[in-house]
Amino acid sequence: MNLQNLLILGATGTIGINTLDVVARHPDRFQVHGLVAGRNIELLFAQACVHRPKVLIICDSNALNQWHASGLNAKLREQIGYIPEIGGEDALASLCQSEQIDTVVAAIVGSAGLKPTLSALQAGKRVLLANKESLVLAGRFMIQASLSSGATILPVDSEHNAIYQCLPANYDLSRAAEFGIERLVLTASGGPFRNKSVAELSQVSPAQAIAHPNWVMGRKISVDSATMANKGLELIEALWLFGLPAGQLSVLVHPQSIVHSLVEYKDGSMLAQLGCPDMRTPIAHVLGLPDRIESGSPRLNLAALGKLDFEEPDLSRFPMLKLAFDVLAKPDTMAPVFNAANEMAVDLFLNEKIAYMDIVKLTQMSLSRFASTCVANLDDAFELDREVRAFAVECAKKC
Ligand SMILES: NC(=O)c1ccc[n+]([C@@H]2O[C@H](COP(=O)([O-])OP(=O)(O)OC[C@H]3O[C@@H](n4cnc5c(N)ncnc54)[C@H](OP(=O)(O)O)[C@@H]3O)[C@@H](O)[C@H]2O)c1
Repeated sequence: MNLQNLLILGATGTIGINTLDVVARHPDRFQVHGLVAGRNIELLFAQACVHRPKVLIICDSNALNQWHASGLNAKLREQIGYIPEIGGEDALASLCQSEQIDTVVAAIVGSAGLKPTLSALQAGKRVLLANKESLVLAGRFMIQASLSSGATILPVDSEHNAIYQCLPANYDLSRAAEFGIERLVLTASGGPFRNKSVAELSQVSPAQAIAHPNWVMGRKISVDSATMANKGLELIEALWLFGLPAGQLSVLVHPQSIVHSLVEYKDGSMLAQLGCPDMRTPIAHVLGLPDRIESGSPRLNLAALGKLDFEEPDLSRFPMLKLAFDVLAKPDTMAPVFNAANEMAVDLFLNEKIAYMDIVKLTQMSLSRFASTCVANLDDAFELDREVRAFAVECAKKC
């Protein structure tokens, strides 16, 4: 079997760690060519000792300096017998296009993931996409890049991965109307505040918001799950990934997170993918394609579970989801605004600069302020991203 050479962007995050867990189970299939971190050099060092990559990238310049100042190169040589190539963020785009890499796992959080992911798509790589924000910020440009280079985008996000598994094998997003699909149903756990009243929501702290009932995730996506902005981002992600119009996308609350999403067909069939809430399952699915490989995830015991619950989302208690449905009407311009405003607002909330419900307020204000903006190219998308962030920070001062 040919070894698949991997580059893992966001190696030190939850998705990166889960990916390396699956990879370690299959030394006959995968070789880690490169690991990319933001600033967690301790974990990156530990990962390098185990996975023996050829290249390490540390995007945060202070952390890169600290790596060198701490003598970690010498320590690494003691551990693995050689020093990998070490670089900073400026080396990332060309690494993503390196001929020595087959597959790029795009798992940097937030819009920082866009440029490297796009570079990989332009070079025709197989991209395992976890970084949903990049698709939300520049979905059209990413899809165009993959169509013109022949790159493949395989969804890691559990809902999109579930849908991907339930679509016909020959599904082609440019002919989406031809496959007899009635609608895609994205499931949502409802997060930690599924049953909280509007009054209770206004008192929520960052610690409460990041305590997800079913999934272990990074801080930003945990808050996004609590507000259901995450489901909003996923609706936009689904729009771009599967090429179906907004009217064929829906959300269903399913508190147990066992049914990861469904595809409803015109003949009345609904196909679903089920599994324990463990990201190693979708990661193993896309890593192994076309084979099915061991993920390390526990097996689902339906008899022990007994029942599965479903309910419609309450848009009055989850206004971020309502805003996201509105955004679907103008995804090229409004999705980047939604993404940037939410990302800034979540950061401000996690740093206790604004209250939980101010996340909605800042996003709403940004959507109104930039309603007539035009995004004709990628530079426009980046410029809009910058402007929205600055605007959101200004608005936060008045909260
Ligand atoms: N976790 C999940 O279950 C899940 C499920 C579906 C989709 N996703 C998506 O997957 C992506 C990653 O999520 P996560 O939960 O793994 O996040 P996370 O645990 O917060 O990890 C984020 C990763 O991105 C790196 N990073 C952050 N800012 C960076 C920057 N400016 N430049 C380069 N690297 C940077 C971090 O590096 P350091 O830690 O070294 O600073 C870390 O490796 C997100 O887009 C999320 O929406 C996650």
